[in-house]
Amino acid sequence: EQIEKGGYEHFMLKEIFEQPKSIHDTMRGRLLVDEGVIKMAGIWDHVEKFKNANRIIIIACGTSWHAGLIGEYLIEEYARIPVEVEYASEFRYRNPIITDKDVVIAISQSGETADTMAALKLAKEKGAFIYGICNVVDSSIARITDAGSYTHAGPEIGVASTKAFTAQLTILTLIAFKLGKHNGNLGNADFMSLIAELDAIPKKIEDVLSSTHELVQNIAKDFVGVQNFLYLGRGYNYPAALEGALKLKEISYIHAEGYPAAEMKHGPIALIDENMPIVIIAPKKGHYDKIVSNVQEIKARKGKVIAVVNRGDQQVSEMADYVIEIPETSECFSPIVASVPLQLLAYYIAVYRGANVDQPRNLAKSVTVE
Ligand code: G6P
Repeated sequence: EQIEKGGYEHFMLKEIFEQPKSIHDTMRGRLLVDEGVIKMAGIWDHVEKFKNANRIIIIACGTSWHAGLIGEYLIEEYARIPVEVEYASEFRYRNPIITDKDVVIAISQSGETADTMAALKLAKEKGAFIYGICNVVDSSIARITDAGSYTHAGPEIGVASTKAFTAQLTILTLIAFKLGKHNGNLGNADFMSLIAELDAIPKKIEDVLSSTHELVQNIAKDFVGVQNFLYLGRGYNYPAALEGALKLKEISYIHAEGYPAAEMKHGPIALIDENMPIVIIAPKKGHYDKIVSNVQEIKARKGKVIAVVNRGDQQVSEMADYVIEIPETSECFSPIVASVPLQLLAYYIAVYRGANVDQPRNLAKSVTVE
């Protein structure tokens, strides 16, 4: 096992550090920047199904569901196809309206999650075209779907998903750009600049890992004893906030809640005092001014702000108690980049609390029962 961990203390840390490679592997052979092409046989062979779909329904559980939420932002923005995202466990039992004009995408690292599998079977029975985004090759979900794209993240051993999540985001980004280019909603110049930027993401993740690792480790030390955490973000980073909170909850057993930053005033603001740490994802591109006012509201109530911002940021950084800098990207890529320091934060807080990071209590890597 020590050998498999490649010198890292836990599989989770190894998998966090593998992300430049896992994202790169997921794009390899698909993203051909010089030719200005995204090659995805699963999509291309059925492109008319997607193009003519009434809507796309994404079903998933856990972290994969968070990836699905970001998929909704991506596909609606770039391909202009309506998307709904559902928990598989809710979808399967609520007698959903599904027709043969719907495309259902299941996202699952393991490809074995019982609720996701059952929801897919239901969609198939009702005539939908079903597509899988799985990490495990030849898994049950990969086998029953009409088509799909594998995330090539490699085996993920840590129960808390990290590299599978960013690989799922990579696939969803490729799908959104491919469909948008095909149906004319994403113009060629924008397509070219977006794919060049996507190609550079593994390098940016490398940069984030080396520039924030030690810093985040130190920040974590100050939060070992807390009982609650809030994570806030807007737009694409709202689901990133949900995922940041889930990571912390899963492995450190600290209660953490992710929220869309603007919704804070409808509830969570009541909890804010000097004992409440709040992680704010605030990159320059994407509702930055609005986030600035959210941070002002938090500071007025003495909340402790840990801000994830772009390098050179001033307004949020001046108010924040802790600042984690990440490189700038287009808004649609920011959840991939911002997730990395949040994974590290959850990891180190859990390690300092003495928790079993790779195998948290009560959780399973793959939930094959209801
Ligand atoms: C479990 C795992 C999570 C995962 C979820 C969905 O809860 O602990 O990490 O996100 O199942 O799993 P899947 O394999 O379908 O992505």
